[in-house]
Amino acid sequence: MRTTVAIVNKQGADFCLEEVELEGPRADEVLVRIVATGLCHTDIHLKGFLPAEMFPNVFGHEGAGVVEEVGADVTGIAVGDHVVLSFRSCRTCANCLRGLVGYCESSLVLNYLGLRLDGSTTYRRDGSPVFGSFFGQSSLSQHAIAYADNCVVVDKALDLTRVAPYGCGFQTGAGTVLNVLEPTSEDSLVVYGAGAVGLAALAAARHLGTGTLVAVDPIASRREAAERFGAVSLDPTEVPVVDRVRELTGGGASYAIDTTAVSDVVRQAQQSLRTCGTLVALGLGAEEYSLDAIDLLQSGKTVRSSVEGDSDPQLMVPRLIAMNAAGEFPVDDLVTTYPFAAINDAVRDAGAGTVVKPVLVW
Ligand SMILES: NC(=O)c1ccc[n+]([C@@H]2O[C@H](COP(=O)([O-])OP(=O)(O)OC[C@H]3O[C@@H](n4cnc5c(N)ncnc54)[C@H](O)[C@@H]3O)[C@@H](O)[C@H]2O)c1
Ligand SMILES: [Zn+2]
Ligand SMILES: [Zn+2]
Repeated sequence: MRTTVAIVNKQGADFCLEEVELEGPRADEVLVRIVATGLCHTDIHLKGFLPAEMFPNVFGHEGAGVVEEVGADVTGIAVGDHVVLSFRSCRTCANCLRGLVGYCESSLVLNYLGLRLDGSTTYRRDGSPVFGSFFGQSSLSQHAIAYADNCVVVDKALDLTRVAPYGCGFQTGAGTVLNVLEPTSEDSLVVYGAGAVGLAALAAARHLGTGTLVAVDPIASRREAAERFGAVSLDPTEVPVVDRVRELTGGGASYAIDTTAVSDVVRQAQQSLRTCGTLVALGLGAEEYSLDAIDLLQSGKTVRSSVEGDSDPQLMVPRLIAMNAAGEFPVDDLVTTYPFAAINDAVRDAGAGTVVKPVLVW
């Protein structure tokens, strides 16, 4: 079939709306008419970072839409179902069987290589292949090919423009708190970078009743958003953040999350921790981080990463939707919708920090 995609023709180029050919669904695939797709910092980073030979490419990994066709081997998904699309996992390897689907042994080939497992592409233009299958969806498109493992069926009454980001950004921030850190009222959490991921983490931490919440971000509107989630906010251009976090948390935070991927900030996040505290580094973009080795050695601190907040989207997306319905995960206002034709404006506004989570709508 013909469909319109927001394609990136060259490494680092802007998005262009173009018509391409979409092949499928094959027996294990699902054809989804996309209603809305969130833009994640990861789309923007990778369109400038993937090797030149991986273009043209169709990104997008926070799709939400309506199932139009279901392959013969797919179970549990029906035509007409509303779905939130997330990342892929094989569901059969050792990590998947332990519930750690973000660490699937086939994660790279299922999510990042731009191809189906047999080397074919779902999209073609003028007979030539176009890289796609990004997170098993490439949903910056009017139609996407997805899979049973990354389609989460949701209530038809939900506004798909609000739940699209649950597939990655919101799930990652919230999952880091709900799955990895599990703070209690005795604990404190500092979040460096109050964007979509960081604010979702704060929302989840407030839901758990975390004792003290601190957010660090140079952008005033993001600090204000963090305060609405109950955090004390700090401007790193104005205050010595490590000292202030230590004061606010009575000697150091139990937990820290970095979403900036800035090496100096990751180091500050480590230094903000109390003895035996844990830092989760979520940001993508740095080649290397420099940690404070003396502090690490003496303090029993843990520095770790997390893929998608250690979430299984089939569990986390419904959990966050239920929390949101109960008023416990109030992230709807973080979304700003744009028509797909304005996708480059959405990238610019997200980069400037004037919006938190742009969601493209057909
Ligand atoms: N680990 C995962 O599975 C996963 C999943 C989704 C996104 N990500 C990554 O998480 C990161 C955050 O994504 P996002 O969509 O929230 O991006 P974002 O750009 O909305 O948020 C980053 C925030 O960091 C702030 N910041 C920049 N410099 C800072 C500094 N010196 N001190 C404090 N804050 C600073 C920015 O102002 C911004 O608000 C990205 O790197 C993204 O690629 C990782
Ligand atoms: Zn993402
Ligand atoms: Zn697996």
